[in-house]
Amino acid sequence: MLNGKRILLIVAGGIAAFKSLELIRKLRARGASVRCVLTDAGAKFVTPLSLQALTEDKVYSDMFSLTDESEMGHIQLSRDADLVVVAPATANLLARMAAGMADDLAATVLLATDKPVLAAPAMNVRMWTHAATVANVETLKKRGVIFVGPNDGAMACNEFGPGRMSEPEEIAVAIEAVLGASTGPLAGKRALVTSGPTREAIDPVRYISNHSSGKQGHAIAAALARLGCEVTLVSGPVAVADPPGVKVVRIDSADEMLAACLAAGKLDVAVFAAAVADWKAAKPATAKIKKKAGAPPPALELVPNPDVLATVSKPGAQRPLLVVGFAAETENLVANAIDKRKRKGCDWMVANDVSPATGTFGGERNTVHLVTGEGVEEWPTLAKDEVAGRLADRIARQLGAPRTLKAAE
Ligand SMILES: Cc1cc2nc3c(=O)[nH]c(=O)nc-3n(C[C@H](O)[C@H](O)[C@H](O)COP(=O)(O)O)c2cc1C
Repeated sequence: MLNGKRILLIVAGGIAAFKSLELIRKLRARGASVRCVLTDAGAKFVTPLSLQALTEDKVYSDMFSLTDESEMGHIQLSRDADLVVVAPATANLLARMAAGMADDLAATVLLATDKPVLAAPAMNVRMWTHAATVANVETLKKRGVIFVGPNDGAMACNEFGPGRMSEPEEIAVAIEAVLGASTGPLAGKRALVTSGPTREAIDPVRYISNHSSGKQGHAIAAALARLGCEVTLVSGPVAVADPPGVKVVRIDSADEMLAACLAAGKLDVAVFAAAVADWKAAKPATAKIKKKAGAPPPALELVPNPDVLATVSKPGAQRPLLVVGFAAETENLVANAIDKRKRKGCDWMVANDVSPATGTFGGERNTVHLVTGEGVEEWPTLAKDEVAGRLADRIARQLGAPRTLKAAE
C-alpha cells in the first residue's frame, strides 16, 4: 500500500518513542522510505543510531548544522516527503505546533511544511485532558492536522486512561488511509457510514438502546477511507476510537442520525451499519421520572423512529449511487434480509447473524451474507476488519465499473 511513499517521521521526547522503531519497520515493510527528525528530548528515549539503522538514512536533529543544511536544508526535509508523521507527539510539541513556534528543527519543519501532517499523541492522561492540550489539539485539527489516537490504556506511573500512543500497526494503517486518499480506487468519491447504537431518551437520565459496539461500522468507514474515499461517519455513542482520516459526526438519537445523514450532501455510497432503535418514547419526560412508593411502574408509550435507510434510499437526485443496508437478524437471516432489501429500496443488504451464540455484538468477528440484486453471496466468518475490507473492495468495484444497479423492486 505504501510503495514508493516518502515519510518524514518526527520523534519527540515521550516514553512511547520506542514504539517509533517498530513503526519504521512496519512502514518499510509496506514499501515506504522513512527519514527521521529527532528532538533533543526524543534522543533521551531512542538513539539516533537505532533510527539510522532502521531507516538506513541519516537522522536529523540539529537546525544549525552546517553539514545538514548543505546536504538537506530544513525546508527541503519536508518538501521531500509525501507525509509528515509526528510519533510520539508530546504535549510540548503539540503546544509548539499550535503556537506556530519554530524553536528547533522539528517545529520548524512542521511550520514550513505544505504536506499533510499526521500526529500520534502520547502522554500522561492528565496532560492529555488538560485544557491547554485540549485547546491545542482543537486548533491543530482546525488547521488540518490529522490525529490518530491516543488510546485508553495502562501508562507509566501506574495511571490508566486516554493518552497512550496508538500501536505502530494502527499508525501505519492511518498513514495508509491518509496517503491512499489521493491514489486509492475510491479517490474523489464520497461516502456516508452510520455506526453504533442510537439512544432514545425516556427522561434526562434513562434511555432505550441496544448492544451495538460500532466495531463493524467504524471498520467499514476506515476501510473506505483507506481506498481514498472521503468518508463521513455518523456514529451513536460507542467506545471504539475514531477511524483515522474520517470525519466523525456524533449523535444520540435516531432523529439526530437522520438529520446528520441528510446533511452529508451528495454521496456516491452510503452504508447503514448502525443499529437504529426502531422505537422511541412518545413523550420523553423533561425531568427524571420519580419512583413513587406504592405506585405502579409508569407506562412507556412508544412511537416508531424515522426510517433512516428507507429515507435515504428513496429515488431522487440526492440518492447515493449505491445504498447498502445492514440486516441484524436472529432468525431466518437470508429470507429476512431479502425481504428487508425490497422494503427499504436499497441496493445491497448485508445480512448479519446477531443471535447471542455468534458473539457478533461487541465481538471481533462477523458472519455475513451479501444480498444484491443479482443474488446472495455467502461470506465466510471473518474478522470485522476483514468484512469491512471485503465490502469496501466490492463497493470500489461497483463504483469503478458503473452499471445500472438492479433496484430492489
Ligand atoms: C521519563 C519521562 C517521560 C516522559 N514522557 C512524556 C510523554 O509520554 N509525553 C509527553 O508529552 N511528555 C513526556 N515527557 C516530557 C517531555 O520529554 C518534555 O516535555 C520535553 O520537553 C518534550 O520535548 P519535545 O516535545 O521537544 O520532544 C517525559 C519526560 C520524562 C523525563
